[in-house]
Amino acid sequence: MKALVQIGTVIANDGAKVVLFQRDEDFQIRVDGLELMNSRTHGSEEDLATLSVERLKNRTNPAVLIGGLGMGYTLRAALDVLPTEAKVVVAEFFEAVVEWNRGPLGPLAGRPLDDSRVVVRVEDVRELVRKDRPYDAIILDVDNGPSAFTVKSNQHLYSEHGLKMLFASLDPGGLLALWSSYPDPWFERRVSKVGFELETKRVRARGKKGPKHTLFFATKP
Ligand SMILES: C[S@@+](CC[C@H](N)C(=O)[O-])C[C@H]1O[C@@H](n2cnc3c(N)ncnc32)[C@H](O)[C@@H]1O
Repeated sequence: MKALVQIGTVIANDGAKVVLFQRDEDFQIRVDGLELMNSRTHGSEEDLATLSVERLKNRTNPAVLIGGLGMGYTLRAALDVLPTEAKVVVAEFFEAVVEWNRGPLGPLAGRPLDDSRVVVRVEDVRELVRKDRPYDAIILDVDNGPSAFTVKSNQHLYSEHGLKMLFASLDPGGLLALWSSYPDPWFERRVSKVGFELETKRVRARGKKGPKHTLFFATKP
């Protein structure tokens, strides 16, 4: 087995160090030494997208916001099931992550950034939810669950105030979907308190294998 090679680094404004590693065909993104994601395990990231789009069936030209890009698996899975008239805005905090996806990470998910339905914005997803609303769906996988991991400011997204902002950014009947590596009953309570109807699903990381991850699907009534 080849050694793990560092092929890219970016420092966030709060000092977090985001590093892209490669070993053979596999890639890994770490934040301050802890794994944010890898290219071997992405079944639940894809489930997040397909199960979200299933919930948008009665919408003709859905406007979907995906945050963030990562290695593009959620984006690819969404594009594969969305109609041709859909509009997908992808919010990615780091320019470097977008460049990695246009470079070495591109083939992993079949270069989803090349799809004409996609607009990629190098911006904090928190800013975008305020600007370009309303969306039919906001699909979030920016941390390892509903607590800040990548950058400290993400904490706001999962607070009552942040959830109210997300609620306001959705059309009636719209969907907020969130990926998590763990269940979080306190987060569930906050989601319901804000007015969402919540459904929580546990899915496997890799098809029928691997650890279980949690997907939160919160619908605005
Ligand atoms: C776990 S990865 C996403 C994985 C992605 N679902 C996939 O399938 O490859 C998290 C991504 O969100 C980005 N990110 C973190 N915080 C963000 C924010 N506030 N706004 C936009 N992107 C953010 C990170 O830079 C990283 O690219």
